[in-house]
Amino acid sequence: MFGHQVKLFKDLIADAKKENVNRHCSVIEVGMGTSELFSKIIDDVDMLCGVEISQKFINTSYDLHSNLNKHKDGKIKLIQGSANNLCDVIKNDGVFTETERDNFWNKDNLRLTCMVMNTMGILPKEIRGDVISEMYKCSGAGGKLVTGCWHKDELQTGYKQFYSQFPELCGPCTEADFNYQTGDFVSSVTD
Ligand SMILES: C[S@@+](CC[C@H](N)C(=O)[O-])C[C@H]1O[C@@H](n2cnc3c(N)ncnc32)[C@H](O)[C@@H]1O
Repeated sequence: MFGHQVKLFKDLIADAKKENVNRHCSVIEVGMGTSELFSKIIDDVDMLCGVEISQKFINTSYDLHSNLNKHKDGKIKLIQGSANNLCDVIKNDGVFTETERDNFWNKDNLRLTCMVMNTMGILPKEIRGDVISEMYKCSGAGGKLVTGCWHKDELQTGYKQFYSQFPELCGPCTEADFNYQTGDFVSSVTD
């Protein structure tokens, strides 16, 4: 469930800070779409970095969330690129200053790399393995990797609040493409 995923991230970040009060903490989201998660956790972390294939969603994220827009030139970095080149996309993008880049890749920065909602399910099957490898590399030793999915009890909310409002998030779909009983997408959408 999305609310539970937000709580999970808040707990993971709080635990990391308990272990080491001075530790920097960054969350990296693959396919951050409308940046719903970022809008909920921005006050808990030192940096948020989203890598999203669609520039349109980067613009939409800043339009939707004033708290993200406020930190546009600071701790929030939304980068256009494909997640199967995650680390290179982050390393080569000009949104980071040299100091921010050094802080980001520093071994003392806890990097929590994630996919939420059903991003894994909408990635083409051919690149899923590469994306996961890149997420491991991005998190690095001592980092964390989280992949989430919709719980069946929340999938209808997901369709109503996200997918019907922003059809590009998982491709054009209607309610008939979702099985709310099992929490699955009908195969024609995911294949
Ligand atoms: C299910 S949506 C994620 C929704 C997001 N969590 C939110 O809060 O809106 C999946 C996202 O992955 C993006 N995406 C698809 N293929 C991608 C790729 N190869 N690299 C990066 N992002 C990708 C899509 O544009 C879409 O925004």
